[in-house]
Amino acid sequence: KGTLFSPFLTSLLGSRDVTSGLFQASQGSSMADTGVVESLLGLVEKADGGVDSLEAAAGLGVDHQLLVGAVKSLQALGDLISAELRSSKHWELSGEGTEIAEQGSHEARVFGSIPPQGLTQSDLMKLSFGKIGFSKAMSSKWIRVDKAHEGGPRVFRTVRIKFTWTVITAFSENRSSTRVLPAFRTVKSYWITKGSSFSTTITKQETELTPEMIASGSWKEKKFKPYNFQAMGVAPDCGHMHPLMKVRTQFRQIFLEMGFTEMPTNNFIESSFWNFDSLFQPQQHPARDQHDTFFLSDPALAHDFPQDYLERVKKVHSEGGYGSQGYKYAWKVEEAQKNILRTHTTAVSARMLYKLAQQKFTPVKYFSIDRVFRNETLDATHLAEFHQIEGVVADRGLTLGDLMGILHAFFTKLGITKLRFKPAYNPYTEPSMEVFSYHEGLKKWVEVGNSGVFRPEMLLPMGLPEDVSVIAWGLSLERPTMIKYGINNIRELVGHKVNLQMVYDSPVCRLES
Ligand SMILES: *[C@@H]1O[C@H](CO)[C@@H](O)[C@H](O)[C@H]1NC(C)=O
Ligand SMILES: *[C@@H]1O[C@H](CO)[C@@H](O)[C@H](O)[C@H]1NC(C)=O
Repeated sequence: KGTLFSPFLTSLLGSRDVTSGLFQASQGSSMADTGVVESLLGLVEKADGGVDSLEAAAGLGVDHQLLVGAVKSLQALGDLISAELRSSKHWELSGEGTEIAEQGSHEARVFGSIPPQGLTQSDLMKLSFGKIGFSKAMSSKWIRVDKAHEGGPRVFRTVRIKFTWTVITAFSENRSSTRVLPAFRTVKSYWITKGSSFSTTITKQETELTPEMIASGSWKEKKFKPYNFQAMGVAPDCGHMHPLMKVRTQFRQIFLEMGFTEMPTNNFIESSFWNFDSLFQPQQHPARDQHDTFFLSDPALAHDFPQDYLERVKKVHSEGGYGSQGYKYAWKVEEAQKNILRTHTTAVSARMLYKLAQQKFTPVKYFSIDRVFRNETLDATHLAEFHQIEGVVADRGLTLGDLMGILHAFFTKLGITKLRFKPAYNPYTEPSMEVFSYHEGLKKWVEVGNSGVFRPEMLLPMGLPEDVSVIAWGLSLERPTMIKYGINNIRELVGHKVNLQMVYDSPVCRLES
């Protein structure tokens, strides 16, 4: 009963036990990590000289990897142990070798499968070990074949063997056989010896010096974990620019390339004076009532205006001047004082042009890209706030031709080359032009912006020289962003319905492509 192995294979069987131990360990049953660490320390203490990690794993019945983990964690604790990596060569059973070790040689299994009444040769050959076992058993003369048997060739035992021992002789590494049962493998392991501060008990190393330790003086007895400067840090959470900000960056880049200076737009609240009156927008204009504009209740009014300029604005609205007859109505400072959420960044342009007029005139090119607010009916393309992109150029003798030229230069940088201009009306520009571009996808002309030359009624009260013209144009930031990122509903771009994943995933914006 059983299979007799040579001492050589018996030793290999020992290593098979490791395999079953491995299986146990990886099922997480017997030993926890700390258990392995403590058992390993025990082995190292008892060992003469040192312990090989493979042997230790076999001895403890754990997976070698688990033991290596224990070695690493002990190394991290300081000089408890020293571990030297080494490679050794081992014999291991191949798959077939393992099968033989477990179930006996093929010929023994063939012999064992044949009942006293015999077995058809074809049935025998169907067994996985049949073919090899048959020829071996035949040459050992344990079996015979009755070829003339009715129902096909039949195999019978020829001997009565009391034993089913099979002797497998040791295979040499260079045996000329295709059936290599043991295999010679290189195995990496650690040679573990006691370190300078070896101990079988692990004192937990402190990672932090606490106020309590200092107060009680217990820090003197504690062991502190050394800093690991090799450790990888935690990947920091990083911010993601909103698509609007990505597109804004691109527009800003275009303006900067064209030599424009950014205006300070960091005030969402503006007085009606700078938002409307300074732009020669009459106080009865429908844009100035609460159906279009958000008024502030607190503080409701602004007080700090350049007084002489305010007087000139009042005069040009009510009486005219500078060749204009004005609007001929009673201009009220109370109306101009009303604080609002700015309805356009042109309010900032007005402030900047007024400032410019207070100095000796030099030509300027200004731009701004920022948020404005209007009491709009909300729908798929309109919100009560959006971003306005605005360009302003002030120089002596500028004409409509200059405006068209600069619009061509600006939109070419956006990749838009086919432009058309349509006369339009704006309260503060004359002439005014809507800008259209040919949309290759939609196969039609679409509006891309608004533009014009600021009226003398706006510029001259500021104090700008008479020969200075100011040309300007504006467009929204949301429209090109929605087109660029394929967003159809503005509420998916701005507001509480924005999917943050969309923000994370939206690629870098390159306008010209
Ligand atoms: C196997 O053969 C190689 C070269 O063919 C030789 O170097 C090696 O020593 C041999 N091994 C044994 C165990 O005979
Ligand atoms: C916005 O306009 C609507 C009418 O269009 C009006 O009823 C509402 O009060 C306005 N909102 C504000 C905050 O002024």
